[in-house]
Amino acid sequence: MKPFEFFGPTRYVFGEGVTEQVGGVLADAGWKKVLLVYGQGSVAKSGLLDRVKESLGAAGVAFAELGGVRPNPEVALVREGIGIARNERVDAILAVGGGSVIDCAKAVGFGALHDGDVWDFFSGAAQVTQCLPIAVVLTIPAAGSEGSSSCVISNDELGAKNGTNGDAFRPRVAFMDPTLTYTLPPYQTAAGVTDMIAHVCERFFSGVGPVPVTDLIATGIVRALIEAAPVALDNPQDFDARANIMWAGTLAHNDIAGCGRSLGAGRAGGWESHALEHAISAFDTSITHGAGLAVIMPAWMRYVWREDPERFLLFGQEVFGIEPLEEGDEGFEGAGTARAWAVEATIDELAAFFQSMGMPASLDEFGLAPENIDAFCDLVAKARGEEFGCFKKLGREDVRAIYELAF
Ligand code: NZQ
Ligand code: ZN
Repeated sequence: MKPFEFFGPTRYVFGEGVTEQVGGVLADAGWKKVLLVYGQGSVAKSGLLDRVKESLGAAGVAFAELGGVRPNPEVALVREGIGIARNERVDAILAVGGGSVIDCAKAVGFGALHDGDVWDFFSGAAQVTQCLPIAVVLTIPAAGSEGSSSCVISNDELGAKNGTNGDAFRPRVAFMDPTLTYTLPPYQTAAGVTDMIAHVCERFFSGVGPVPVTDLIATGIVRALIEAAPVALDNPQDFDARANIMWAGTLAHNDIAGCGRSLGAGRAGGWESHALEHAISAFDTSITHGAGLAVIMPAWMRYVWREDPERFLLFGQEVFGIEPLEEGDEGFEGAGTARAWAVEATIDELAAFFQSMGMPASLDEFGLAPENIDAFCDLVAKARGEEFGCFKKLGREDVRAIYELAF
């Protein structure tokens, strides 16, 4: 087990009806005025936004508003939010939505305390050390931003989608009511589950050997998701399935599934699949992050597994009960082949699970074409450098080969 720090400052308030507590909890924290950040309509339509406003009003917490955050949130709206946060002198930012809204809120929260432009934090010119407090009412379990130290923002002018990390902007409190997710379209439910599994896998396949306690948490999260997802897709109002998915999304990305699995300082894993996915959703901002991962991650796995087959065998055993063939089994052609069969079967099962939820199997389903691969490679290099990754170092030709596998 490698050295690690686990920092989990978020207070999670979980269960049906917890939104009623928003105003009281924020008032108790001493926040007198907040910036309410939300997306493009779902929270207005469901009535949640009004309920949050009522709760704030009843507790005497004033608010300013920043609505219209799009999926793959863009830096222009962040800048607008920073202006409002400063003019209105808010004490905290309250995100009501999913990863896009939360990340926009986080960027407003640290951008408001920065003298230069907020993109400095995404270009690598500055490191986040301080942030206005962030509170969250989560409406879609997916990105895990409600407990994470990540923030991902797009810059359409530069054609970029970059992330930054910092403990300063981990949310202070997250309200998580599974019933709020009943209205999620199947595609968003499925993309969210895919993203969670990717968050576990990025850490699980991190270039570090077994860490049983963490490995079993990780594979347990994936098993719970594989069990709950079809139930929620079949019956969107199944409380337990929705609740398990919601909490799994947090555990998949608050770093508990990576303790002791980091090669260096900081988060476990090289986040290779995320780097390749962020390039395609920067290239076409209408692409849903989780759906992109459903295609990219199996392609990455097929390309890299030979670096450390044991990790894949463990994943296959724990998640799908797949064991390598043994002498005497039908199809057995030697130990090496049997292991390769088990790893390939594991990756096939995972990809088949994503597709069973309605996720795509190939990048061409997004309208992308192999001719776009050069542009994707440029975007990856711009965000992560010419060589990156932990499980296997990826140079430009490796990245290209993985994209080719994804078509
Ligand atoms: O905008 P509205 O109308 O609210 O609709 C949203 C949006 O269209 C809709 N939605 C959300 N809650 C709903 C709902 N529709 C019906 N009922 C509800 N209860 O769902 C759509 C997707 O929302 P979004 O916030 O974009 O989803 P997600 O949570 O998947 O966030 C994706 C973003 O997070 C980034 C991704 O790259 C992407 O930009 N990530 C952030 C991470 C982090 N900060 O830790 C880590 C991730 O790896 C990821 O990169
Ligand atoms: Zn993700």
